[in-house]
Amino acid sequence: MITLDRILISSLFLFSLPIAHADQGQNVFTQGGANPAAMACQGCHGPDGLGMAAAGFPRLAGLPVGYLSKQLRDFRDGTRKNPIMEPLAKALGDEEIAAVSKTLAAMPAPAAPTTRRQQMASNATEQLALYGDWSRQIPGCVQCHGPGGAGVGEHFPPLAHQPATYLTAQLNAWRDGSRHNDPNQLMVGVAKAMTDEEVKSIAEYFAAGQEAKP
Ligand code: HEC
Ligand code: HEC
Repeated sequence: MITLDRILISSLFLFSLPIAHADQGQNVFTQGGANPAAMACQGCHGPDGLGMAAAGFPRLAGLPVGYLSKQLRDFRDGTRKNPIMEPLAKALGDEEIAAVSKTLAAMPAPAAPTTRRQQMASNATEQLALYGDWSRQIPGCVQCHGPGGAGVGEHFPPLAHQPATYLTAQLNAWRDGSRHNDPNQLMVGVAKAMTDEEVKSIAEYFAAGQEAKP
């Protein structure tokens, strides 16, 4: 016989699942994972998840959930190397990775830059960002990372509003092989074809968050 209690209990159970999941992500973010080696994310990525530019800690708020969970798994299996994030990600369980990625993706991010499609490049850096350099087989960054580097879908992360030091470090990590987690090696070729000067200037270009030019 189905009693009112039963119905109440089963509906509570149904509703408590997603709620517990969301709370788990929030807990990992503010307090850390069940394993103490998985330190609270907000300590380095900021209470708002917007990162710490001075330290080169990236923004996580508003990044695609698929990209975030992939990066955490990549740190775990070593296809992406970093002395801070590797041990931390290894201490996170699958469920914690899924939950914290969901929480981070839902956190408010700075407004995406608005750029027009037929934008004119005003200097060599912008030329590279918008159109690339086909003589070196570099496609424009925005062709994968979206207008203004705002990010596209689950696989192409935003570049806009990330610290310049962080973007530079990532491009250099592909060049020296310490990051080799890009699907189909989409980034390795791009990064290796760039000069030191270009890496620095393009990182500053995207970090500033580009607005539409008349
Ligand atoms: C002690 C400081 C510290 C703590 C705590 C920390 N991180 Fe990080 N995190 C970093 C640094 C530094 C990087 C940049 C790594 C690199 O250069 O590859 C990073 C990078 C990342 C990235 C890659 C972002 C991107 O754009 O590709 C993700 C995802 C991430 N952290 C998630 C987390 C999560 C989730 C937590 C909490 C469970 C956390 N981090 C806690 C320092 C920290
Ligand atoms: C053909 C597509 C493609 C092009 C063109 C491209 N990227 Fe990427 N980029 C990617 C993908 C895919 C990733 C994510 C790799 C992963 O999953 O770890 C990425 C990641 C990055 C990251 C790391 C972001 C983070 O949060 O850690 C940086 C920095 C970057 N790209 C810079 C650039 C710059 C600068 C250019 C232009 C010179 C460029 N990309 C052009 C596909 C591309």
